[in-house]
Amino acid sequence: MAETTKTAKLTLDGKTYELPVLKGTIGPDVIDIRKLYGEADVFTYDPGFTSTAATDSAITYIDGDKGELLYRGYPIEQLADQSHYLEVCYLLLYGELPDKAQMADFEQRVTKHTMVHEQMQYFFRGFRRDAHPMATMVGVVGAMSAFYHDSTDISDPWQREVAAIRMIAKLPTIAAMAYKYSVGQPFVYPKNALSYAGNFLNMCFAVPAEDYVVNPILEKAMDRIMMLHADHEQNASTSTVRLAGSSGANPFACIAAGIACLWGPAHGGANQACLEMLKEIGTVDRIPEYIAKAKDKNSGFRLMGFGHRVYKNFDPRAKVMKQSADEVLDLLGIHNNPLLQVAKELERIALSDEYFISKKLYPNVDFYSGIILEAMGFPTSMFTPIFAISRTVGWISQWKEMIADPTQKIGRPRQLYIGQTRRDYVDVTSR
Ligand code: SDX
Repeated sequence: MAETTKTAKLTLDGKTYELPVLKGTIGPDVIDIRKLYGEADVFTYDPGFTSTAATDSAITYIDGDKGELLYRGYPIEQLADQSHYLEVCYLLLYGELPDKAQMADFEQRVTKHTMVHEQMQYFFRGFRRDAHPMATMVGVVGAMSAFYHDSTDISDPWQREVAAIRMIAKLPTIAAMAYKYSVGQPFVYPKNALSYAGNFLNMCFAVPAEDYVVNPILEKAMDRIMMLHADHEQNASTSTVRLAGSSGANPFACIAAGIACLWGPAHGGANQACLEMLKEIGTVDRIPEYIAKAKDKNSGFRLMGFGHRVYKNFDPRAKVMKQSADEVLDLLGIHNNPLLQVAKELERIALSDEYFISKKLYPNVDFYSGIILEAMGFPTSMFTPIFAISRTVGWISQWKEMIADPTQKIGRPRQLYIGQTRRDYVDVTSR
């Protein structure tokens, strides 16, 4: 828990209030304002939460100035290079890297939960074939609470644990079913002999008519993409999951809320929007036109995959993803991929432009991921579902941390009211 090292003084209307300053292990201190409204009858005001710590947490640390991302203290670059997704899941959930026996047990527990209830396939049939897979996932993941009643009681630590394993195990199956449904192909059951990433690729691309062999290059690239997206502190979708969970909603409903929030193009939907933007730009010679649009406030256009609320230096995930894009396309024999050329030139031009330099706008995790995913054979509509699969462990880990916190209360922000003052009702005959 944080410790109080000093106090901050606030003077308002001639009265001075002492506010405790709490210190964590690394990162900015926080001013504890929990008693402010009761003592001074004022709220603080921070609509986009640009200066607000909504919780304390021991899971993920980001230093936006240094471009640093730590999962339970381990740098993302080291994990992306030396670990694998299920080991990162264990680390985020339990706080430590597993030994061999712990890893084998965790992998076995996840593998045994990869199938979904057979009845769930009928949910998909209610959707139009051209439904966006994110719409399907929000619906089907929320519906899990109608099937797995034995893991919805959040007061029972064992049920919380089972719900966590079930979601990590079943999200790939549900996302693959959403994809298969959208392309009119039969659902493919999980294969427990395959790795987590390999199983997802098989469920997406295998067909009954012929054998599908998982390409180890794609398997490793998918696993790395999943590690890079696993958690990211108190981002919009994680904050959504925490807020939904603070009311006592069941874990499946909370994750469905997180998926809904992630879908937005300012958040996880940016990977789809970014690739669509790169395709619209099409060739390197059209980049200046789009750079100019991005700088024009009236255009309403932004460079998708660029900028970040926290990173005011490079996003370390984007660096790893860019290197992975080069490797994967090269290994697949895709040389001079036009989208990759446009992306690299766009990055080069933007990073030498005063507008982007002054606003500290760099490529984020969504800038290069779409190029790899498209090379793997995924349609752009599957990019954000893959982000959702990867982030489920982060959402669940943050949710478990919040539920286990004895001081946890329902989240209930206040407001600055700017509407009408009190007035009496007027009958329609007098209006
Ligand atoms: C993710 O929070 C997380 O951790 C998220 C995430 C995670 O892992 O969970 O990292 C995943 O969501 C990554 C971000 C994906 N989104 C995009 O790529 C969409 C494009 N980027 C933006 O819309 C924007 O940069 C945000 C939403 C990412 C951040 O927005 P902020 O922090 O609220 O910044 P802002 O909108 O206040 O912009 C600051 C200035 C503005 O100009 P001024 O009003 O100060 O003159 O920078 C400009 C913006 O107009 N700006 C951009 C821009 N992003 C910001 N201008 C052009 N192109 C852009 N992409």
